[in-house]
Amino acid sequence: MSNVWGRNIKLSIFGESHGPAVGLVFGGLEAGMVIDRDRIRFEMARRAPGRDDISTPRAESDGWEVLSGVLDGRTTGAPLCVVIRNENVRSGDYTPHLLRPGHADLTALIKYGEHADHRGGGHFSGRLTAPLVFAGAIAKQVLERRGIKIGARIAQIYDVIDAPIDTDEIFAISRKPFPVADDAAGERMRQAILAAKADGDSLGGVIECAAAGVPAGWGDPFFDSLESAMSSLIFSIPAVKGIEFGDGFGLASMRGSEANDPLFMREAVAPGETYAERAAKVGVTTNRNGGINGGISNGNPITLRVAIKPTPTIGREQTTVDLERGETVTARFGGRHDPCIVPRAVPVVEAALALCLLDHATACSERS
Ligand SMILES: Cc1cc2nc3c(=O)[nH]c(=O)nc-3n(C[C@H](O)[C@H](O)[C@H](O)COP(=O)(O)O)c2cc1C
Repeated sequence: MSNVWGRNIKLSIFGESHGPAVGLVFGGLEAGMVIDRDRIRFEMARRAPGRDDISTPRAESDGWEVLSGVLDGRTTGAPLCVVIRNENVRSGDYTPHLLRPGHADLTALIKYGEHADHRGGGHFSGRLTAPLVFAGAIAKQVLERRGIKIGARIAQIYDVIDAPIDTDEIFAISRKPFPVADDAAGERMRQAILAAKADGDSLGGVIECAAAGVPAGWGDPFFDSLESAMSSLIFSIPAVKGIEFGDGFGLASMRGSEANDPLFMREAVAPGETYAERAAKVGVTTNRNGGINGGISNGNPITLRVAIKPTPTIGREQTTVDLERGETVTARFGGRHDPCIVPRAVPVVEAALALCLLDHATACSERS
């Protein structure tokens, strides 16, 4: 099972939903970086379960223990190892022979046989996003010292769509407890989630995410394009089923004259400058390409949208298989589940984007 990500930083996550703990090993961080614990606490609380009536009632404090890599509040340069204990498990809710449609029960069994930990989805669980958010909180701290900020909002839940915004607005919106621009639309989203929950059903939606301050020139063409790198980590988040950059799929129904971002000179040029020096003074008037051309950042905000599917474990009757009886059956699934993953996944998408950008930053050597 591959569980290490990153070219310049190395992130590994471990654990199972109902094992003793989940956690991370984070290598490649420079020595001497200040770790802001309040910032980590804030990010972890945004993802934590059991907060309200639209998330799973499985209440976890998501407190953590640093086992290595930090001394006197600063990184030591050694791998940072962090453990986040599982405190509230109820494994009796899961039967290994009754497979949940849409979850990884079938594929885990095919690939790992009877040895896979099925309890609560084991290593496939959304619980494994707690270490991702922890690592992302550190990545954000490093990036912010370099002038890069990241934010995300709920753009859509089922058929309820948030109001359109300018990219700049997303950073303030992302800090709201329910991160939407239009609170009335947010209330309709909440009601839609509660109605699905009352039906024993679930909903999906779209998360919009942006990073501002990313310098031009990060990324490569083809295999290591910035879009490829970001997609690789964002698709690692369970329940993510789609991603688009800038206007994404919308570009498919535009003409080139609409899709191209017009270029202009932001600053006056000086005599004797090279074309490359003058290129650094070029801006775009729109950002339909989401801040990336040819796999390389162009200095504009990076914008992307992520599709999250409805939570697979639902209380409605569905067709599935009972491997004990060897039959196709209908079954309802109990247990404690998010009726909609989207609100809790907002900081997870931000974390993935932050980690990807940190991996592209050449060094993390600032000290504060
Ligand atoms: C934050 C978060 C919370 C999740 N909560 C649940 C849940 O309560 N119940 C569930 O069945 N799936 C939940 N999932 C999704 C499953 O983990 C995921 O659908 C499953 O592993 C299959 O992977 P796939 O959907 O990417 O194919 C959650 C995912 C995330 C990111």
